[in-house]
Amino acid sequence: MKAKLYTIKDVHADDDKIKKASNIIQNGGLVIFPTETVYGLGADAFNPVASEKIYSAKGRPSDNPLILHISDLDMLNKIVKNVPEKANKLINQFWPGPLTIIFEKKDIVSDKITGGLNTVAVRMPSNPIALSFIRNANTPIAAPSANISGKPSITRWEDAVEEMGNRVDAILLSEPSEIGLESTIIDLTQDVPMILRVGKISKTEIEKAIGFTEIDKTIFGEKDIPKAPGMKYKHYSPNAEVFIASKENFVEKVKQKYKASPSCNTVIFTMNQNKSYFKDEKVYLLGETTLQAAKFFFHFLRKADKEGYDTIIMEDISFDEIGEAVMNRARKSAGNKYL
Ligand code: TXA
Ligand code: MG
Repeated sequence: MKAKLYTIKDVHADDDKIKKASNIIQNGGLVIFPTETVYGLGADAFNPVASEKIYSAKGRPSDNPLILHISDLDMLNKIVKNVPEKANKLINQFWPGPLTIIFEKKDIVSDKITGGLNTVAVRMPSNPIALSFIRNANTPIAAPSANISGKPSITRWEDAVEEMGNRVDAILLSEPSEIGLESTIIDLTQDVPMILRVGKISKTEIEKAIGFTEIDKTIFGEKDIPKAPGMKYKHYSPNAEVFIASKENFVEKVKQKYKASPSCNTVIFTMNQNKSYFKDEKVYLLGETTLQAAKFFFHFLRKADKEGYDTIIMEDISFDEIGEAVMNRARKSAGNKYL
């Protein structure tokens, strides 16, 4: 194991360990750290050599830009050309929190970490450990999700250690990610604000703050090239083959597919409310609400691989609250295959 492991139980009591991790960033190293969405794999955004190491550690295509994580607005002003009025409104309402905003970038931000774009994605996370880690590093931290490119995002430290332990310099071990899905991304560099990735903060909430907002249509279809470069790649894929079971005749369809699977090595992801329908089948329960489902979805994809399942059937859950974002990730992991 290459990575130093630092267990963080309390942001104050474990301050010395957070500072050690921040030092590694200042010295050009890679550190995996918890955020409220998913675990991130960070490097000093102002150190091009360090930031480029992120791409090789993850096996990430170099045209896929990174999100810069900040702990205060001084950092924002160092990296963006201007903060439009609508951005100010969103910042006041949603930062720190699970919202990434795209701005026009200053030259100080290297083209290498924006995939050649003249814009930059920025987020101020609300997780206190993340904030303290960035503050101590005293530099914006460029960080994608901590998984190997194409794999499900990482929401538990155990998965970070197993998948990335030999690829990074340190890992901060903390609680499972509170939300469990990546941030909502909004682009404010166009005339009309555009949501590029759906997440916990919904279009309705955003529109309450800044008015009419569009949603990148490619989020729900696979026809055109998405505007967030990273959304076009194969994504969130476990080893098992994933199918979505649409709502119509849900139980019947699932049972048929379950029986038809040759090795019968299939697991069903379903909401607790449907538990009683599947007494003879293997199920992972996603919880009572879509917020709980969000917290478990990526973890369950990884768990199914560990337990040796070759097929996953995911219920088409309700679009309430964060449900739409869960289904966006689920469809990608299924390559849009429906039962
Ligand atoms: O919740 C999150 O956002 C997590 C945590 C660690 O903060 N991070 C995350 O990063 O999900 P990543 O790299 O897995 O996803 C970032 C997405 C990619 O789809 C990327 O293409 C898009 O953001 N992106 C980054 N910069 C962009 C830009 N300037 N314009 C458009 N899309 C951009
Ligand atoms: Mg990612």
